[in-house]
Amino acid sequence: MEVIIKQGKLDASRAAARVVARLIREKPDAVLGLATGSTPLPLYRELVRMHREEGLDFSRVVTFNLDEYLGLPPTHEQSYRQFMNRNLFDQINILPENTHVPDGMTQDVPASCAAYEQAIIDAGGIDLQLLGIGSDGHIGFNEPTSSFASRTRIKTLTPQTVADNARFFDGDESQVPRHCITMGIGTIMDARTNLLLAFGEGKAEAIAASVEGPVTSMVPASILQHHPVAKVFVDEASASTLELADYYQWVYNGKPDWQKDA
Ligand code: F6R
Repeated sequence: MEVIIKQGKLDASRAAARVVARLIREKPDAVLGLATGSTPLPLYRELVRMHREEGLDFSRVVTFNLDEYLGLPPTHEQSYRQFMNRNLFDQINILPENTHVPDGMTQDVPASCAAYEQAIIDAGGIDLQLLGIGSDGHIGFNEPTSSFASRTRIKTLTPQTVADNARFFDGDESQVPRHCITMGIGTIMDARTNLLLAFGEGKAEAIAASVEGPVTSMVPASILQHHPVAKVFVDEASASTLELADYYQWVYNGKPDWQKDA
C-alpha cells in the first residue's frame, strides 16, 4: 500500500485526480470504477475542471459504480445514479450509455448482479477503482465480515452506516434504505489499481486499522494490503493516528516527480 498524506482534502483530491487524468490520457478508453458519498466530491470537481480547462476527454471512458440503494429509482434525488449524473456525468463529455450503476429497482437481484459482473468483464475489467471508506472500514457497501471473495450482490447496511448516511436523507434514519447492491470485495480486488480516499478525523480509526492493522474481514478495507497497486490518499486529520505517518511522507517526498501522479 502506498499512503499519500496531504494537508487538506483539496490537495489530496487534486493529487488523486491527477492519477485518474494521467490514466485517461494514456488510455482514452479506460474503465473507471466510481464511488459516491461525500469523499469523492472534490475529486469529481477537479475532473470537471480538467475537462473544461484542459480538455480532459471522457468520450471513450467507461464507468462502473460501486453500489446503489435497493428500492430507490434512478430518478430519486438520493439514488447513486442521480448523484453521479449531478456531480460528474452531466458535467463532462461521457456517453450516458458508457456509465453503469447497479439497478436498485431490479426485480431479480441475483440475475442483475451477475449481469453487472459480466458487463465489467466484457468491458475489459476495471483499470482504476475509486473508493471511500466507512467509519466501520467498509468499502463499497461491504460491511465488516463481508467475504473477501464476494462479488456483486445484495447487502444489508449496518445500523452505523444507516446512521452515517442519514445526513443525505434530511437526518432521518427511517428514510435510509436498509439494503443495497454492491460490488463485492473480490470485484474490487480485481481492479488493476485501487485509490482509497479518506478525509477528516472520523475516518482516522478506520484508516489506521486498514493500513497498519491485521488483514481481517472485520475491517474490509484492510484487504487492500493484498492489492498490488493500492494508493491511499488521506488528509492530515484522517492520517492522525497512523504510526508510520512520517515514513509515508518520507517515501512520497523522495519520489521522482513522474512517479507521484502515477
Ligand atoms: C459509496 C460507497 C461507500 C462510501 C463510504 C464513505 O459509493 O461505496 O463505501 O465510500 O460510505 O462515505 P462518505 O464518503 O460519505 O464518508
